[in-house]
Amino acid sequence: MVKSLIREIPKAELHLHIEGSLEPELMFELAERNRISLPFRSVEEVRKAYDFTDLQSFLDIYYAGAKVLLQERDFYDLTAAYLKKAHAQKVVHTEIFFDPQTHTDRGIPFATVIAGIRQALLDGQKQFGISSRLILCFLRHLSAAQAMQTLEQALPFKDWITAVGLDSSEAGHPPKKFTEVFDRARAEGFLSVAHAGEEGPPDYIWQALQELQAARIDHGVRCQEDPELVSHLIKNQIPLTVCPLSNVKLRVFDTMQDHNLKQLLDLGILVTVNSDDPAYFGGYIEENYTAVQQALGLSDDDIYRLASNSFQSAFLDGKDRQKFLALLKPFSAPETRR
Ligand code: ADE
Ligand code: ZN
Repeated sequence: MVKSLIREIPKAELHLHIEGSLEPELMFELAERNRISLPFRSVEEVRKAYDFTDLQSFLDIYYAGAKVLLQERDFYDLTAAYLKKAHAQKVVHTEIFFDPQTHTDRGIPFATVIAGIRQALLDGQKQFGISSRLILCFLRHLSAAQAMQTLEQALPFKDWITAVGLDSSEAGHPPKKFTEVFDRARAEGFLSVAHAGEEGPPDYIWQALQELQAARIDHGVRCQEDPELVSHLIKNQIPLTVCPLSNVKLRVFDTMQDHNLKQLLDLGILVTVNSDDPAYFGGYIEENYTAVQQALGLSDDDIYRLASNSFQSAFLDGKDRQKFLALLKPFSAPETRR
């Protein structure tokens, strides 16, 4: 029952790096199309290299992989491939991160990147009925001045971007480094989110909330080390976009049995399940739900709550949120169905 519930229940995905959905097969296809030589001879060899020891060991490979993305069409194909997979797993709403600096630093115009992604999102809405938002992430290992420049490049495309976020190497790059950039982004009408408490300490989660006014925390699993922070997240119902397979692959937890998702859920935190970088971590949203369900013994009710939390946490207006939540009704326990 739980397995079919996971497969069938409508879900929102709120933590997905589009560059992290680049499957090795597409990486080779784009390398050939763009005449770029890869340091791997086969798809199998690429997959073998995906044996990470921490966040940085992953990021080094992830940024290298993104080098095959050059033309608008490449960004279109990448996004279209993700949407097809997400639709097959009953994702009806997705909020996608993109990392413009990974591309603009290689001389690719901001407009090329966003135009390809945007067209695929529009076509995904038409073809699959999948609704979407776009979130621009600043790379925190680069300077605040570079982030500000990126924000300025984004302004002509402001209507296509819902929020700004913060990703890349967490240790040594506290959210407060970007306070001014986020202030400016909010003044321009963007919402904000931030990766925090993945490898970094609970204090980085506080900073994301207090300095950057983040509406959601990406990962946030280290919040449990600070009881006051846990109370704050519960009281203010601040969503955590948790990515279980990512956390085990990057050794945030030794095994899936050690993951604290069920504890956070039982405490009353607004936890959601997401795939982060599915091409690198061994699965999309369904595989993430399944992995935590099996390792932590989640019930049908837990799965229902996770799906419900995903729509509660999404950047939707009231009417759309109610429309999506109504889709869940047939999946709730019979006594609660109205
Ligand atoms: N960029 C892509 N995936 C990431 C993650 N899990 N943490 C920080 N930056 C990322
Ligand atoms: Zn992430």
